[in-house]
Amino acid sequence: MELIKENRVEDKSLIEGLEQLEKFIGNTPLYPFNRLFQKKGVKIYAKLEWQQFGASVKSRPAFEIVKNAIFAGELDRNKTLLDASSGNTGIAYASICGALGIPVALCIPANASIERIRNLKSLGAELILTSQYESTDGAQNKAKEMFAAHPEKYFYADQYGNDSNWEAHYKTTGPEIVEQLGDEKITHFMAGLGTTGTMRGTGTYLKEQDPNTQVIALHPDSAMHAIEGWKHMETALVPKIYNAEQADDNQEISTEESFALLKDISQKEGLLIGPSGAANLVGAIRLANQLEEGVIVTIIPDSADKYSEVYEQLFK
Ligand SMILES: Cc1ncc(COP(=O)(O)O)c(C=O)c1O
Repeated sequence: MELIKENRVEDKSLIEGLEQLEKFIGNTPLYPFNRLFQKKGVKIYAKLEWQQFGASVKSRPAFEIVKNAIFAGELDRNKTLLDASSGNTGIAYASICGALGIPVALCIPANASIERIRNLKSLGAELILTSQYESTDGAQNKAKEMFAAHPEKYFYADQYGNDSNWEAHYKTTGPEIVEQLGDEKITHFMAGLGTTGTMRGTGTYLKEQDPNTQVIALHPDSAMHAIEGWKHMETALVPKIYNAEQADDNQEISTEESFALLKDISQKEGLLIGPSGAANLVGAIRLANQLEEGVIVTIIPDSADKYSEVYEQLFK
């Protein structure tokens, strides 16, 4: 990761805090799925993203957003970081800002899992619960409204429109994948779309390294899906940072396929992961079955920790 250099930020303890935290953001393992999928010449790898400070893929963008805001003089201990989140970004903000002593306010759909709400409260975040029928779109509208009413009180982080989101993946996730693969060359990168930061940042970096690398975007197959963290672009508020032109291919994944694969991942790989990681692996296995040769890399955004209801249903 880039080294943070001291600059004109008055409160040096914030800089020291960022420097300490940066060591624990990213640098996640690249895990080979050898038991789940076996075919000569084709390999599937995934970044185990819950293994970092803040416990999910969203630690990377949350840290980059907070760091850049502090350096721009837009965020300090006298302002409150405000954003909308379905949970993981909120937990990452609350962890990072908690460690830095910066207050956090989050607009979050009221049907977010009990574990998410409990974790956020435990980390000291102020929660503004929004309509469960409007998902994260309703939460985004509420955050915008709060910021418009009190711009002096808040730093509006806006993960859906903030370039620091995808730039975090461009600077860290992409380079880590290339370095971890060593002599093995990636042929395909795939990731599901939420804010689209993972896809845009990692995909852009990998294409720059080798334009032949195929970048594949994964989507939920309907508006009524249960793949937490994914957005159905046709019916949702499209994130400002989304670059629809970027992907070489787009694929749809169903909630049913993802939940079915969660069982295999638990019992064949010994990994307890979240549904969106399983959905990414459904896409990876589907592609792997069509290839003669290839190295497919995807992302496991979070662990099973926040999905006890899903797991209780699957393993009754
Ligand atoms: C569990 C989970 N999976 C996938 C994603 C999608 O990642 P991105 O926002 O980078 O598109 C998110 C984003 O919040 C998430 O929380």
